[in-house]
Amino acid sequence: MENLSVRGAKIVSQTDLLEQALGMFLQDPYDQQCNPQGFVNVGVTENKVCFDLLKERLTRPDMNYLDSSLLGYNNLAGIRSLREEAARFLTDYCRSPVPLNPNNIIIMNGCSSILCALSAVICNPGDGFLTPTPYYSRIALYTGAYSGLQPVYVPLNSQVTENNGHPFELTMQKLEEGMEKGKQKGIRVTALILTNPQNPLGEVYPLHLIKECLEFASRYKLHVILDEIYMLSVMDTEFTSVLSFHDLPDPERTHFIWGLSKDFGMNGLRIGILYTENKHVVNSMSRMATFHQCSGPTQHMAYQFLQDRDWLENVFFPTNKELLRNSQTTLVTGLEELRIPVIHRSTGMYVWADFRKFLPSQTFEGEMELWQRFISEKLCITPGKTFECCEPGWFRLTTSLPDHILQVCLEKLKKVLQCGPQLNITSNSK
Ligand SMILES: Cc1ncc(COP(=O)(O)O)c(C=O)c1O
Repeated sequence: MENLSVRGAKIVSQTDLLEQALGMFLQDPYDQQCNPQGFVNVGVTENKVCFDLLKERLTRPDMNYLDSSLLGYNNLAGIRSLREEAARFLTDYCRSPVPLNPNNIIIMNGCSSILCALSAVICNPGDGFLTPTPYYSRIALYTGAYSGLQPVYVPLNSQVTENNGHPFELTMQKLEEGMEKGKQKGIRVTALILTNPQNPLGEVYPLHLIKECLEFASRYKLHVILDEIYMLSVMDTEFTSVLSFHDLPDPERTHFIWGLSKDFGMNGLRIGILYTENKHVVNSMSRMATFHQCSGPTQHMAYQFLQDRDWLENVFFPTNKELLRNSQTTLVTGLEELRIPVIHRSTGMYVWADFRKFLPSQTFEGEMELWQRFISEKLCITPGKTFECCEPGWFRLTTSLPDHILQVCLEKLKKVLQCGPQLNITSNSK
């Protein structure tokens, strides 16, 4: 930690299993032909089922375009054509009751940058954000790194009780308890961060719950950040975007995030989009974009991609949905054969699975021990502790991968689980 600031030391001291897993994979990546003994990564969520389709579209001549403005300094909020196209796209796919305004859009290099910059402009150092757990815990890195925003967890668990109608149910009572916890710890809670569809649970929040959350936030004057990065990968379930609401309880404090990383399998392109009606937030985010901009040519590619509705509607979406469904079926069927229950299948990119009966002990040490055994077998799946889950034994597995990778994953799981304990745990999972 020598020569680092307090902030720098804090950033490196945080363990990040997702980053570690990606590092192990990148050093020795599994490849069916060239490296069949390599590391299989089912822990990081990437959509890899549509690469051939994307390659064909992204290498067409209309992508390879340059004019001098794309090589020059451009509008910091994002190039005009992309912001206009993003506004049209989100109006349609989020079913906004009115056309969305391109002036309310900020483009940055990924949703991680949006979360990082947004927390810096709407919260003060030391403030807290409320979030139900398990959650995508890198959000705490994004919001904490520069801005010093700290998480206040609202722990959800799998037991079905009077107050918990289904496993990991979010209720207003639990959010109220979270506010109280923040108060007791002396943390000023100023934001509520929700991912919808939820990551890692895969749950899609029903309309009434989003409404209740927005009203809850409005009562406490909290900013609400709705991260809807997986919204177009939802299968067989009605999805409600916050942008579809006619009357938001507090539009000035409601902020929507989406990007191309997941739904379009392009995390390498680095495109994240913020929509907010708060002009002050738009102005300050434009300034912050100095540090988080996407290159002009990349923005042009994203514009061309989003405006090709014919291809998206007739080629990409139907093929992608079918492939996501097939790969989910492969993994879930294999898990069921291993007697591993999963919950919520509406997100086509990952499942939340119950490995509790395979833990050597019902503790987080037991969870890490099982994870280490998977790692020794060169398989990465992500343990619940990474998502701040309050119960040991849950893991997230990515389903949006080619079939042969999922088959290798299942073989490795079988090999590891056959050697360990199999306890008789009654699961409440549906
Ligand atoms: C809920 C959520 N938000 C944000 C991100 C980061 O997205 P990006 O690649 O756009 O930075 C991820 C990535 O896994 C995610 O799961």
